[in-house]
Amino acid sequence: MSKKIPQPTTPPRERAFLVGAEIYGQKHPLPLEDSLSELALLSDTAGLEVVGELTQKLDRPYVETYIGPGKVDELKALAEETLAEVVIFDDELSPRHQRELEKALGKNVRVLDRTALILDIFAQHAHTREGMLQVELAQYEYYLPRLTRAWSHLERQAGGGGGRAGSTGGVGLRGPGETQLEVDRRGIRTRIAHLKRELEKVEAHRMRYRAQRKRSRVPTVALVGYTNAGKSTLLNKLAKSEVYVANQLFATLDPTTRRVDLPGNNLALFTDTVGFIQKLPTTLVEAFHATLEEIAEADLLLHVVDISHPNALNQFQAVQETLDEIDAGHIPVITALNKADRLKNPEAAREILKSFPKAIAISALKGTGISDLLQLVKEELYESYAPIHVRLPYQQGALISLFHELGHVERVEHERGGVVMQGRIPGRLVAQFVPWKFKGNHSEKTQPGLEEKEV
Ligand code: GTP
Repeated sequence: MSKKIPQPTTPPRERAFLVGAEIYGQKHPLPLEDSLSELALLSDTAGLEVVGELTQKLDRPYVETYIGPGKVDELKALAEETLAEVVIFDDELSPRHQRELEKALGKNVRVLDRTALILDIFAQHAHTREGMLQVELAQYEYYLPRLTRAWSHLERQAGGGGGRAGSTGGVGLRGPGETQLEVDRRGIRTRIAHLKRELEKVEAHRMRYRAQRKRSRVPTVALVGYTNAGKSTLLNKLAKSEVYVANQLFATLDPTTRRVDLPGNNLALFTDTVGFIQKLPTTLVEAFHATLEEIAEADLLLHVVDISHPNALNQFQAVQETLDEIDAGHIPVITALNKADRLKNPEAAREILKSFPKAIAISALKGTGISDLLQLVKEELYESYAPIHVRLPYQQGALISLFHELGHVERVEHERGGVVMQGRIPGRLVAQFVPWKFKGNHSEKTQPGLEEKEV
């Protein structure tokens, strides 16, 4: 099946033709048409103009060209007709697929895939040093086995000593030509090793900062969700701040943390993280593992779902799968069903709520449902923790650090015989602390309200 989209005569942007295949028996996170619409949105975000698309149903991908030989001929004709300069496949192509396809389609057309596109968008949106290093590393890892003329920007980077990784602004998708194939693979490997070392340094620094944050008593909430679900809009609303919001995929790449007031004079730190997407490239997940680990360390996940999206449930599942992959599957989750203002039938929302864990319908844009959401967050963060007041002998170092690591410390006092600690710990840990319950003789009063309930 093919479809041509009418175009203006002067092409303002690079022209891209999209190709999607449905493989029988293979699990597809989204129906083919929807996955291609998403690819079109990704292309648009990368600054490309989509000029047409072609799909095929297959028993399995062809070893040489992914799609069948007849389809390749059709694709060649369509690419010529639409003056396409780039052909983008919705699935990750092997280096061989790419070479064979480029050979078959002729020298005027370059062949890319979804992964390259996502990497390119990430390269455009990374702003912190760590984000830039992570994207550059992911790009090199991905491009190394695929050194063809499409990846010509590598040469520039390989010699560039730490410049920004390629982006559509003239690199990742726009190689100047065949000569770039001369890129020295060894040079790239050296660069990869260098990037890894640099990342280790940046990560070590962040770990120290993270440890400090853990010691502070403010609990953390990580905003997670499919790209464009409205995480940044929600964070702005919650923190009354200005985080960049755009109707684009992956507008936010680097984590942003804000303090948010919760009901009852409580506080939490909310972190907006990278948006997820189905078929998130493995090279990216690996390169971003440190950032993603931060999600895995949160006290609570706030999963933002665009409930007005026809594939909301699939998107929710794609995010859950990535969360499992990064070992964050065990963290308590609240689901914020966002963009409820777009629902034609608000009654339907009530039904939809039942399909998601601990869900609440909100509109980050209009500000509806926000106070209920904050109430829920407060309950989850503060009320599923047990207040505790203990005197831990110094020999109980493991318990002292457990309290710091997993609890919310409100007061610490070092005495001759041990540390007196007061605060909240997850209910599951209470039993371990009971033997060290604080028995009085403390110079300061305990906080009112804590005493009667605490262990
Ligand atoms: P990524 O950076 O891709 O991860 O996106 P994000 O999840 O941070 O989404 P962002 O906040 O940038 O919002 C994406 C688009 O959705 C923007 O155009 C927002 O204005 C719009 N949007 C966010 N929340 C709502 C809402 O409650 N209702 C409506 N109608 N639009 C919303």
